[in-house]
Amino acid sequence: MSLFSADGLFKHFGGLVAVDRVSFAVEPGEIHALIGPNGAGKTTLINLISGLLPLDAGRLVLDGADLTGLPPYQRVRRGLSRCFQVTSVFGADSVFDNLMLAVQARAGSSFRCLRRRAAEGSLRESALALAQKFGLDAALDRAAAILPHGDQRKLDVALALATRPKLLLLDEPLAGMGPEDSAQMVALLHRLRTETAILLVEHDMDAVFQLADRISVLDYGRVLASGDVASIRDHPEVQAVYLGTEASG
Ligand SMILES: Nc1ncnc2c1ncn2[C@@H]1O[C@H](COP(=O)(O)OP(=O)(O)OP(=O)(O)O)[C@@H](O)[C@H]1O
Ligand SMILES: [Mg+2]
Repeated sequence: MSLFSADGLFKHFGGLVAVDRVSFAVEPGEIHALIGPNGAGKTTLINLISGLLPLDAGRLVLDGADLTGLPPYQRVRRGLSRCFQVTSVFGADSVFDNLMLAVQARAGSSFRCLRRRAAEGSLRESALALAQKFGLDAALDRAAAILPHGDQRKLDVALALATRPKLLLLDEPLAGMGPEDSAQMVALLHRLRTETAILLVEHDMDAVFQLADRISVLDYGRVLASGDVASIRDHPEVQAVYLGTEASG
């Protein structure tokens, strides 16, 4: 059984069909990339999966649990996490405080039975471990808002990971990054695949071809093709609508 399945997802904005009967699956441990031209419906699809937008039709199942119609926080509880630009929301707080808040939110009730001191120590450890994993240990005391762009994006992913997701949704994590930060983020995402499956929306094709186990191509809200890297790279229709024109972007 697949870890995650989307079945017949449909969304329109007035007369515009943004997501048109989209079905696909994500397997455990898989990085599944979602690519396609601007306006193809990728972000809308991510919003439908996370629950930020209501579906007009379709069904979502994660690890055997039906997510369809659940509010976003209940989807998170069932193992779905998405990356927001959280650093812009809690920008005045330090990197450490942001991480503490995130691991605390996850711990929730499971920590209630521990003694307060023990619980706090354990949360600190989790927060520090996350900082280390993302190379943010030198920036713990800095306000999130004044971090360099690359570090902010790393913190965003770290915060999304703090909920211990089974499926992590990432919408253009490399956007606006220079080559060095990009390479670091790609290496990070590569290491994350042992912890969570990832649905990755990204325009950077070098990164997608390096990371993806499978790629689905969206065009005008529909899945145009889905397959492994080689089959998508050589797919004539995909080259025509996307790779031919945007592969360098
Ligand atoms: N809230 C909304 N109301 C009306 N139309 C919307 C809304 N959100 C998205 N759209 C439209 O739906 C279509 C899909 O947009 P979406 O943002 O999902 O594309 P995308 O694939 O993420 O594009 P990009 O690569 O530029 O990020 C576009 O035509 C867009 O204008
Ligand atoms: Mg988008």
